[in-house]
Amino acid sequence: MIFKYEMEKADYRDFANGRVLHNAPKTTAFPVRLGKEIMSRCLAQLRNNKNLTLYDPCCGGAHLLTFIGFLYGEHIAAIYGSDIDEQVLEYAKRNLNLLTEEGLLARKEQLQRDYNLYHKESHLHALESVERLGRLNQTAAIQLQCFPFNIAGVTRPLINNVNIIMTDLPYGNIAYWKGSNDNPIHQMLQNIHPLLDINNSIVAIVCDKKQLVMHEGFKKIHAVNHGKRKITFLKPYT
Ligand SMILES: C[S@@+](CC[C@H](N)C(=O)[O-])C[C@H]1O[C@@H](n2cnc3c(N)ncnc32)[C@H](O)[C@@H]1O
Repeated sequence: MIFKYEMEKADYRDFANGRVLHNAPKTTAFPVRLGKEIMSRCLAQLRNNKNLTLYDPCCGGAHLLTFIGFLYGEHIAAIYGSDIDEQVLEYAKRNLNLLTEEGLLARKEQLQRDYNLYHKESHLHALESVERLGRLNQTAAIQLQCFPFNIAGVTRPLINNVNIIMTDLPYGNIAYWKGSNDNPIHQMLQNIHPLLDINNSIVAIVCDKKQLVMHEGFKKIHAVNHGKRKITFLKPYT
């Protein structure tokens, strides 16, 4: 893929898993530059890009949602994350809570206590990152919600007017589809279609190149490959 928006490689250490953001065991961090490129492409597809609702139905530890929240807070009014794995959602909640002033302050205090106890350089670096993230954080008013949900099941989540769905699907060695039928992606698209703001929404699905991202209710805008990943952008038919 040729980066259209994130042309320059930048230093994304502030968003590293386990530094300020919590590292959920057995989960993967999402590459920040790629996440930004996907978000920029999504914003370019929307008619209006203020007060947006963002949803990740396979959010894992919410690494992706959290850095997007920090970096695009001025566009976002609500962030929803769900996952079938209730244990991983505990980390997602803690990560999304960093987007609040109190959550980030609590993390800073914890890192300061750790530094006072152990004098580790890693805690000092994390404290520097907290300061920078605090300056980015214009997102205190964002509505944040995490909930357990099987997105490949037969029911749909009770949320609506979603503008951006951005999700990194299970593929590969760490994350597998769970609780799914034969065609989990089709079922997921079936479930998310009614949640969307039909006039102002875009869906970005990241998966491996083998998985077919297709549903009769959606038009494919474009798809790009990036390393082992494929990113497919879809819009619902009105
Ligand atoms: C690649 S990980 C997502 C990582 C996430 N993007 C992050 O930034 O932390 C895929 C996630 O899909 C979840 N998953 C698997 N089957 C699911 C299902 N049927 N419904 C919802 N989530 C599911 C897994 O539990 C895993 O957390």
